[in-house]
Amino acid sequence: MMPHVAHLTPPWPYRAELFDGRDCTDFCIAELEETIDRIGAQNIAAMIGEPIMGVAGMVVPPDDYWPRVAEVLRRNGILLVLDEVVTAYGRVGTWFAADHFGVRPDIVVTAKGITSGYLPLGAVLVADHVATELGRDHGFPMGYTYNGHPTACAVALANLDIIDREGLVERAPKIGDFLAAELRRALADVPLVGEVRNVGMMLGVELVADPTTREPLPGIQHIADTIRAEHGVIVRDAATALVLSPALTLGEAEATRIAESIAEVLSRTTPDGTVHRGAAR
Ligand SMILES: Cc1ncc(COP(=O)(O)O)c(C=O)c1O
Repeated sequence: MMPHVAHLTPPWPYRAELFDGRDCTDFCIAELEETIDRIGAQNIAAMIGEPIMGVAGMVVPPDDYWPRVAEVLRRNGILLVLDEVVTAYGRVGTWFAADHFGVRPDIVVTAKGITSGYLPLGAVLVADHVATELGRDHGFPMGYTYNGHPTACAVALANLDIIDREGLVERAPKIGDFLAAELRRALADVPLVGEVRNVGMMLGVELVADPTTREPLPGIQHIADTIRAEHGVIVRDAATALVLSPALTLGEAEATRIAESIAEVLSRTTPDGTVHRGAAR
């Protein structure tokens, strides 16, 4: 863990036990304000957050979470840095998750979708007022051997052009919502599924041993491995969920196949996390 970093409760409505019986956003905003009071706004450079937490299991915050966070930070003169390494460039149905949530971050960190992975590239986007500060005096001297590599940048420009030209940003919520609906349909009778959630083409299937207590299902890495090995469908386990980030070009038949494959393996999985060979016992 980095020193001098305070961590906040994740805005995760499904885990209602995190919020002492209060509204998720109300709890998180009160905690943010208490944290700023304790540390002192003058001692805090920025708040860094992932707008939808991928590796935590595609955790989707309530719609009012980021706007209210942004308002508290603005009032206290604290910068908002969004980690959009997963969410940027169309995946959530807008070019940036910041647009989806209606906030204007000061700094945005991006990577993956900028080249769709065809070449490695990351980009940090900064608002004008941040750029002005960075440009003062001698500027902000920094550099790596491959900074601004022209080949990777050319691939990024071509890739972003294709995303734009083929309307993939607008397509993401349509096919993402279709996949989510297919998952809900195929998994309706599987008691191990706590919820299916998505924003565009970021999807999470929360797995629980018991839907009443919401106790996480053990062994979900093995479940993801089985879906991959037996159905050729690549899903990933992340914390307590199976997560999916399919290509924005995914077709409806492929979406149905993904949903049915996950359902088939979960239908023979028992609450102890064992995947049985035949039907679940
Ligand atoms: C949200 C998020 N931020 C940052 C990273 C790390 O990016 P990098 O591997 O370029 O350091 C990842 C990697 O998957 C990620 O998902």
